[in-house]
Amino acid sequence: MIFDSHAHYDDHAYDGDREEILPALARDGVGTVVNVGASLEGTRRTVELIRKYPFMYGAAGVHPDEVGELNEETFAWLREQCLQKKIVAVGETGLDYYWDKESHEVQKKWFVRQLKLAKELSLPVIVHSREAAADTMEILKQEYSPQTPAVIHCYSYSPELAREYVKMGYYLGIGGVVTFKNAKKLKEVVLETPLERILLETDCPYLAPEPYRGKRNDSRNLTYVAKAVADIKGLTPEAVIEATEKNAGTFYRLDRRQ
Ligand code: NI
Repeated sequence: MIFDSHAHYDDHAYDGDREEILPALARDGVGTVVNVGASLEGTRRTVELIRKYPFMYGAAGVHPDEVGELNEETFAWLREQCLQKKIVAVGETGLDYYWDKESHEVQKKWFVRQLKLAKELSLPVIVHSREAAADTMEILKQEYSPQTPAVIHCYSYSPELAREYVKMGYYLGIGGVVTFKNAKKLKEVVLETPLERILLETDCPYLAPEPYRGKRNDSRNLTYVAKAVADIKGLTPEAVIEATEKNAGTFYRLDRRQ
């Protein structure tokens, strides 16, 4: 079944129909969803969702655009959330020099702190990195620990860098962008990256695949992403769905959560 490794169902885009959509996912071939906190409020809402829906797990973290809300007190609260039973990762955390909402120094400081937290608690990490390839790699190398593998979510860099991440034991998150006609570089990355290192993700409500580009996204649309990955690799969509479900289960260590 489909495993959506990165979703934001806490987003206000679902306020009108969240309770209809989430039960419908399971009926339409979606087996597991990891809802990812991108702020303190997003993490709080993630914890509510995973309590309510058995097929959902969560990640606790603060996105680089939102790190202005972190201080010792709120960081201690974030750490507490990581101890909840169905929280399976720290994230999303990282660097975003595209929106550049916080200074690079502040972004780096809280990225390192969240990586150290993951190391302390032996949790995998969900990394957001936009126009910050060099600094992201430098920090990840400096904080690297075999106990805390990472996924580079919504991977947007070169095939060369992808190879380096794969060598480090990391995973690449592939979503709707791979279905876009102009995504030449990403298609190359998918072709070169071993299937065992690919996770499917929506990043919903954002990044809906073709033919729904620009619309609100949800996990059911991963069938289009699986089809695109399958076409690139010469596989069937079913084989991609099955392999990436297994990969995500391994990455998030769900076997230890039952
Ligand atoms: Ni996200």
